[in-house]
Amino acid sequence: MNAPAELALLSAFHTAEQHVAAFARFTAALDAAFDACATPGDPSRCARFARGLRAALTRALADPALVTPAQREGSAQTYRRHVIAADSRGRYTVAALVWQPGHASPIHAHHTWCGYAVLDGTLTETLYAWDDARQGADVMRSHPRASGAVSFGGRGRTSIHRLSNGSDAQAVSLHVYGVAAEHISTQVNDVLPLVRKTALVS
Ligand SMILES: [Fe+2]
Repeated sequence: MNAPAELALLSAFHTAEQHVAAFARFTAALDAAFDACATPGDPSRCARFARGLRAALTRALADPALVTPAQREGSAQTYRRHVIAADSRGRYTVAALVWQPGHASPIHAHHTWCGYAVLDGTLTETLYAWDDARQGADVMRSHPRASGAVSFGGRGRTSIHRLSNGSDAQAVSLHVYGVAAEHISTQVNDVLPLVRKTALVS
């Protein structure tokens, strides 16, 4: 029987051909999600698209060759994003995010639809409600998002969250954003301030 370390090494090793094939399966599933939606202008408003995107991400969980070992490499400073594919028609970009212990995203809503799956490790997702009067995000609750978790959301401040790695091990997540690759840094996250609590006066 192989030792656990040997099994991990075997599961991490895939050929370039296997990576390309896995990616072809993933992009075909994404294309099918778009094809299922009659209103592609904002596909996040289409239930079939949301189901299709979740299905694509769920299938990706069973396709470890999709993200190469190089695309699972992190950074000591902050979470690292590897853009691993972009749609030739500019409809979406796919990225792997690598989170070392203690790394966290900013609190943010989204300017576009996005979906993600946790491939390795466990992230914590904290959800917020937008407080228009105080112009800030108010924390609601947190929950663990373990390997296998899949999420999809539309744009707007009704879906505000923050992802963080509170564990003692690396985590990797796969994200699909509804923008062309050149817009991934500027047109995805709507970074928001935490609401300021009013000091109690005694
Ligand atoms: Fe997000």
